[in-house]
Amino acid sequence: MNVGTMTIKSRRSVRKYKPTTIPPYVIQDVLDCGRLAPTAENLQPWLFGAVTDKELLRRIAELTDDALFIADAAVCFAVFGRPDETYYLEDCAAATMSMIIALQSLGLGSCWVAGDKKPYAGAVRELLNVPADYSLISLVPAGAPAEISNPSKKRLDEVSFQNRFGETA
Ligand SMILES: Cc1cc2nc3c(=O)[nH]c(=O)nc-3n(C[C@H](O)[C@H](O)[C@H](O)COP(=O)(O)O)c2cc1C
Repeated sequence: MNVGTMTIKSRRSVRKYKPTTIPPYVIQDVLDCGRLAPTAENLQPWLFGAVTDKELLRRIAELTDDALFIADAAVCFAVFGRPDETYYLEDCAAATMSMIIALQSLGLGSCWVAGDKKPYAGAVRELLNVPADYSLISLVPAGAPAEISNPSKKRLDEVSFQNRFGETA
């Protein structure tokens, strides 16, 4: 295992954060990792927000149905995409994951919170004054981890094959 695969494999969703702030340059670095994610035809049909204002964090948390922990995050990233572009969902998912891995490599905990398909997506977009040609794809609250979960994972041989289905390494 190298440091990159270790970072990816050690990541787990973090829903409890210590009450510490994150320096602005770290937030910019994470946004930049989203910006540089792979994107079909290099269209980059996305927009990235970083919410640090406590009142806004509280209001986003209240709008979601089950992600009240957003209120305690040091920052909540919001990934928006342009639904008029064919691959906007894949692009924004790739960007979201790049940001989550960046946070993990920086020693910060985060959790992917659904935006796309959720009834609160429009309300969050409006709260952040984002134009209507974008829609919310994901929220990524982040902060210094106070508690890390360890959900069970399927074994590799249950979810993979080599060459043909049923054959493993
Ligand atoms: C598309 C997507 C949407 C998710 N939405 C939520 C959510 O709304 N609230 C939440 O607490 N976790 C959410 N999660 C996190 C998953 O619950 C979590 O990844 C899963 O339980 C596996 O745990 P792990 O991330 O620690 O490996 C979401 C993850 C993905 C990929």
